[in-house]
Amino acid sequence: MFTTASPKSHSVQPSVDLFEAIAALKKDLNAIVLAHYYQEPDIQDVADYIGDSLGLSQKAASTEADVIVFAGVHFMAETAKILNPNRQVLLPDLNAGCSLADSCPPSEFAQFKAAHPDHIVVSYINCTAEIKAMSDIICTSSNAVRLVNQIPRDQPVIFAPDRNLGRYVMEQTGRELLLWQGSCIVHETFSEKKIVQLQIEYPKAEVIAHPECEQPVLRQAKFIGSTTALLNYVQQSPKDQFIVVTEPGIIHQMQRQVPNKLFIPAPPQADCACNECPHMRLNTLEKLYLAMKNRQPEITLPEDIRAAALLPIQRMLAMSV
Ligand code: 13P
Ligand code: SF4
Repeated sequence: MFTTASPKSHSVQPSVDLFEAIAALKKDLNAIVLAHYYQEPDIQDVADYIGDSLGLSQKAASTEADVIVFAGVHFMAETAKILNPNRQVLLPDLNAGCSLADSCPPSEFAQFKAAHPDHIVVSYINCTAEIKAMSDIICTSSNAVRLVNQIPRDQPVIFAPDRNLGRYVMEQTGRELLLWQGSCIVHETFSEKKIVQLQIEYPKAEVIAHPECEQPVLRQAKFIGSTTALLNYVQQSPKDQFIVVTEPGIIHQMQRQVPNKLFIPAPPQADCACNECPHMRLNTLEKLYLAMKNRQPEITLPEDIRAAALLPIQRMLAMSV
């Protein structure tokens, strides 16, 4: 007997109210929508949970939903799948990658690791499952310093793939790390010169930055932290103007949480929109709806890679409590 798969939709009828349709699909599928702060405002507004990479991993580790709809980039959805082999994980656009993850090809990293057999590997979560599988501990921007501080000081450490976060961790912990030379195209677009000019324009504003920025930019910052840490900081600070040096998607939540404050997005060096993550922005509300309706694109992984990548993520979760 032949069965025919239900036809997949690639477009949305103009009459469909996406917000209502997504709410209905969440119930039908017993789905949870997880979104990163860099997603477009409409996506953040339909999410059940919005967070930074650590918060999203913790939420993915504890969910009881049958379907995880991950509004973020590939490595984030992949991490949710590593943690949830028996749940379906959907990513609205499978091409939503990450320049930082791409800057660490597994075969080259394997050679680098083999050349330093006495080192353990701490990898930033912004990497592929293959790199995670070669790592001892995964970290995020919110726990990297805390996790490295828990490793005995005489233990040599490779830190991959972000050289900027790695340098920041070196400064904060006062220890040498062997850095893989990867970086994020978005955070490297910010320039010290443009930020200094903005400070002249807004003398009352405080500079806050993500640790993926380069050292001269971080030197201008009064506060450095993950997206969640930046959001918490602007809520608690007595200041009411901030120059925000990270992807500007975070400003949607800042404006929602503290509408009376002013948030100035740091501009890119060139006359472009390159301070917006082109990968994050591939996801749209329409694609999210279609992913739920069609139950694809779905994240899948070879079981041996998934199992090997799970261990360093579990270590991170245990070391972060
Ligand atoms: P967070 O750890 O703040 O979520 O950062 C993720 C990221 O991709 C930054 O570019
Ligand atoms: Fe990757 Fe940079 Fe985009 Fe974050 S902002 S997802 S590190 S490319």
